[in-house]
Amino acid sequence: MILREAVRVLVNNWDGGHTVPSRRLYPHQWSWDSAFIAIGNARLSPRRARTELLSLFGAQWHDGRVPHIVFNPQVPEAAYFPGPAFWGVRAPSGSATSGIVQPPVHALAAWKTYEADPDLGFLHRLYPRLVAQQEFLRAHRRGRDGLISIVHPWESGMDNSPAWDEPLRHVETANVGFVRKDLDAICADERPTDDDYERYIALALAYRESGYLDAGDFQIEDPLFNVAYAVAEHALARIAHELGLDPEPHEREAAAMTAALTHQLFDGALFQPRDARTGRLIRSASVAGLTPLLLPGLPGKVADTLIDTALDLFSLKDGLLPSYSPAAAGFDAARYWRGPSWINLDWLVWQGLKDRRPELATGLADGMLCAAAHAGLREYFDPATGRGHGSRDFSWSAALVLDLVAEHGMKSVPAAGRDIGQELRCFGEADHVADRVADQVPA
Ligand code: SER
Repeated sequence: MILREAVRVLVNNWDGGHTVPSRRLYPHQWSWDSAFIAIGNARLSPRRARTELLSLFGAQWHDGRVPHIVFNPQVPEAAYFPGPAFWGVRAPSGSATSGIVQPPVHALAAWKTYEADPDLGFLHRLYPRLVAQQEFLRAHRRGRDGLISIVHPWESGMDNSPAWDEPLRHVETANVGFVRKDLDAICADERPTDDDYERYIALALAYRESGYLDAGDFQIEDPLFNVAYAVAEHALARIAHELGLDPEPHEREAAAMTAALTHQLFDGALFQPRDARTGRLIRSASVAGLTPLLLPGLPGKVADTLIDTALDLFSLKDGLLPSYSPAAAGFDAARYWRGPSWINLDWLVWQGLKDRRPELATGLADGMLCAAAHAGLREYFDPATGRGHGSRDFSWSAALVLDLVAEHGMKSVPAAGRDIGQELRCFGEADHVADRVADQVPA
């Protein structure tokens, strides 16, 4: 059932050239969603995985930035806030976009797409764009210590994390009237508060006024964002090698970022965000702090300590990882990024555990699959009960379930009433099914 559900969600959310994260809540193309969606689609329809990434990078700006939203002109302005009129900007391609970015997980997605279905032409087209994405971050966001800053909580991808409460306190709210659209789709208890939204909008307006150039009152060196950057360099090294180019500069860059992260953001138990304006670590308990496990060059002792922290503070052995430690102030099991488990963050940590602690990785994969099998392909899950929250039919949950099953199998998902063999056959045929269905969807 779970595989058929995942295929159904990805097919229904496909819009001809990209996949919406969620039909009602997020009706356009989102940057890091597209990367995770491509990783899953690589297992289902590599053609669509390639199209997903190429369409996103089609809206890349001249300065190399990949906007966090590419707006679909066929979707009415009123369907999402803040929409194209708010951001007021177009990519060179003519697409209306937002002006901020998200964690650069796209090179990893491109590499995984290529691994699933080697297509050198795809790598040739995407490689220079992936390099430009990294160059934008180096040129515009890198501080003296080598770490990259985000300028808006939306750029972290984990916008409502309690880790941002303290830096957001210093943000003056703007007296602009706006109407939230997210609450039409999801109950208020599971979304950010109005007070948070006031600050998000104030920050976005200030950045817009600077021509999307000057960081304002929120400048954070976030572990997840910097890990994604380093992982991208590792992936670019592989891609460069495949293309007959020199991988060494990318490896060097990944090693430098791994060292910068370890020296500056590791507090002895967990990686912490740092406020780039004060230079102080923000003492918090976000699952983002475990993502350095993805870095192959992370010192062994640091990795062991992180795994201990994952076991103690994040109850790693219980199945799902919360997005914020239940032991920390600010935790909320059901509200957006304040505690629920998200499949993409759990998937990233799973990737980081596979070689280091395979038995823990297996437990985490089982936890994700069980939650998705029981609660459906929800946006987020209560980490203790597995209850689903947020949007239904959420694309990256579907996509990463496909990737997990392809690699891990479904060993411990309760099989009652299901014919796994039949589902796997359906999975094997899904490429053709998805492409056939996709071809019928109007572009
Ligand atoms: N995640 C933000 C939202 O809720 C912005 O991308 O809309």
